[in-house]
Amino acid sequence: MPSPYEILSRKRGGERLGRDEIAAVTRGAVDGSWTDAQLGAFLMAAVLRGLDAEETQALTAEMLDSGDVWDLASEVPRLGDKHSTGGVGDKVSLVLGPLLAACDVPVAMLTGRGLGHTGGTADKLDSIPGLDQALDRSRALRLLEEVGLAVGVATEGIAPADRRLYALRDSTATVDSLPLIVASILSKKLATGAEAIVFDVKTGDGAFLPEIDAAAELARLLVDTTRASGRRSSALLTDMSQPLGRWVGNAVELREAVEALEGRGPGDLMEVTFRLCEEVASLLGAEVGRSHLERAIDSGRARESFARWAEAQGADPSWLASPKFDRAPAEVVLEAPRAGRLERVRNRRLGLLMIEAGAGRKRPEDTIDAGVGLRCRVRLGQRVEAGEEIARLYLRQPSAELARGFLECFEISEGEDAGEPPELILRRIG
Ligand code: URA
Repeated sequence: MPSPYEILSRKRGGERLGRDEIAAVTRGAVDGSWTDAQLGAFLMAAVLRGLDAEETQALTAEMLDSGDVWDLASEVPRLGDKHSTGGVGDKVSLVLGPLLAACDVPVAMLTGRGLGHTGGTADKLDSIPGLDQALDRSRALRLLEEVGLAVGVATEGIAPADRRLYALRDSTATVDSLPLIVASILSKKLATGAEAIVFDVKTGDGAFLPEIDAAAELARLLVDTTRASGRRSSALLTDMSQPLGRWVGNAVELREAVEALEGRGPGDLMEVTFRLCEEVASLLGAEVGRSHLERAIDSGRARESFARWAEAQGADPSWLASPKFDRAPAEVVLEAPRAGRLERVRNRRLGLLMIEAGAGRKRPEDTIDAGVGLRCRVRLGQRVEAGEEIARLYLRQPSAELARGFLECFEISEGEDAGEPPELILRRIG
């Protein structure tokens, strides 16, 4: 077996690494035989020299095999999964899971906490009293058999190689590398073992990769690498130039998701959710089209599916019968400084301000204020009059500084006419 020095000098020189060399890196990450300096050097060489498709597949497979692999699809046929690259107001998973389960398409999703300026599904689900999000393989299987849905945070050692490499990427300026991102995401996604995985790759100011071409490249690499692992896969590039839905926060987004399951969801959230549901179903060969999804909502089955799932995961039945959602008491109305058209939302900045307001974490040990939220009333392209409400903040304490910051996120141009709303689904990559 080549030494770390030999592997590093080959990659530094731009050579292709073989599967056994990549296996040596991930093994070294897990058993501690590679130092932080050597792993950091590998990451930097990978960023500067690139990893080709085969190396990316090898890194994905070795990071996956570094930990527990559940392979749920071997016991639950036609199991689906959806992954989002993260966005502001992105509550799609909370609607999609119960909705597909109500249409007899089983779904297992491992969720995460908020990352950077984007919120995390696990943080939103914390607002359901009693809900136990800890999932291991046997609990996930039991939930899939009972209610067709398992959503939570893995308790077992999934992809430990990624855990060590990911922590080093943050401190070695090696986060922004498509092959490293893909191997990192997929080493965890593939561990549950869904038969079909659909990626919601966000594009626009509030996305992880704002530029559409970079987002498309990420989507292509995610889909190709997933397929090379023997699963079905496709991706939709969806708009993140403004928050998805009307609400941003934690408890407030959960409430919006529950309302969506009751047939009261905003159009953009429903369109993106329906398209992703159709995509998962079609990859699995399930006959679930738009009319089935709409019927599941109109008939109340989707809402029931949410309650059955949450109760099976320990949610308090009396809360489920009449849910209450925390909303911070200090309301601050953000008013349009002049008449015009909402031309741009600084969506990334808005996500970062939500963290400042308490809805996200600056450090991993921080606690989140679930009731802090923002309601967007005006959407891109819409006309407003001077003094009209654009959005409303819900804070624990009023803050003029935060109000000013949030207001600056909404840019009003002087146009007389309303503009076109942004396209929601920009591309399908299949
Ligand atoms: N999410 C991950 O899990 N890994 C990355 O590298 C980026 C986003």
